[in-house]
Amino acid sequence: MNSNEYQYVSVRPMTPDDIEAVYRIESQSFTLPWSKRSYQFEVNENKSSRPWVAEASLQDGSKQIVGLIVIWLILDEAHIANVAVDPDFRGLGIGRKLLAYTILKAYEEGARQFFLEVRRGNLAAQKIYRDLGFKIEGVREKYYKDNAEDALLMEMGIINQPLLEKYAGEAIPKSMLYDFQTKENENGS
Ligand SMILES: CC(C)(COP(=O)(O)OP(=O)(O)OC[C@H]1O[C@@H](n2cnc3c(N)ncnc32)[C@H](O)[C@@H]1OP(=O)(O)O)[C@@H](O)C(=O)NCCC(=O)NCCS
Repeated sequence: MNSNEYQYVSVRPMTPDDIEAVYRIESQSFTLPWSKRSYQFEVNENKSSRPWVAEASLQDGSKQIVGLIVIWLILDEAHIANVAVDPDFRGLGIGRKLLAYTILKAYEEGARQFFLEVRRGNLAAQKIYRDLGFKIEGVREKYYKDNAEDALLMEMGIINQPLLEKYAGEAIPKSMLYDFQTKENENGS
């Protein structure tokens, strides 16, 4: 692989300075977004929380937060509480990489059962969860307050470490990031 053509989007722990950028992605991604205050709590106060960001290096040398994930770790259980990717950077593998990387980190910390809820209609998210090894284990009917949509409960008991390592280390093609950035600039944003 030619490192001039490919580069890794890096995943690192969320800091208080990231919260503005994280909130921007959050509010573009959910009809019921978490507040900035919630993120401050996750980063500064909640000892069970593992909040992470995905950060891309762009063509002009700047860095940009392009994704977020919050995992709650309680004893050997990990709950994926929230995950989102900047709408301009979706479909590049960033969401799957972010999940795979942080699930492996939670595993290193002792997590052995992984849980999440997902809207029945959210096929993009379900695709990634299935790719990583999650299975549907139940349904909470009319769980979401905004449109009474069902929640699917997904679980993963035994992780497929080599598969997660493959997705966690996946290179995000530079050319794709640049295409996205150029498009954004052309739109004047
Ligand atoms: C769900 C989400 C995090 C996925 O992030 P992403 O970076 O776009 O996903 P990836 O690029 O890693 O996707 C990986 C795979 O899913 C596929 N995929 C991505 N978006 C898709 C879509 N809208 N429909 C169908 N498949 C999709 C990709 O094609 C890829 O599969 P492939 O490798 O077999 O081609 C993102 O869509 C998002 O932020 N959505 C809004 C917030 C949300 O719904 N969060 C989940 C709450 S449970």
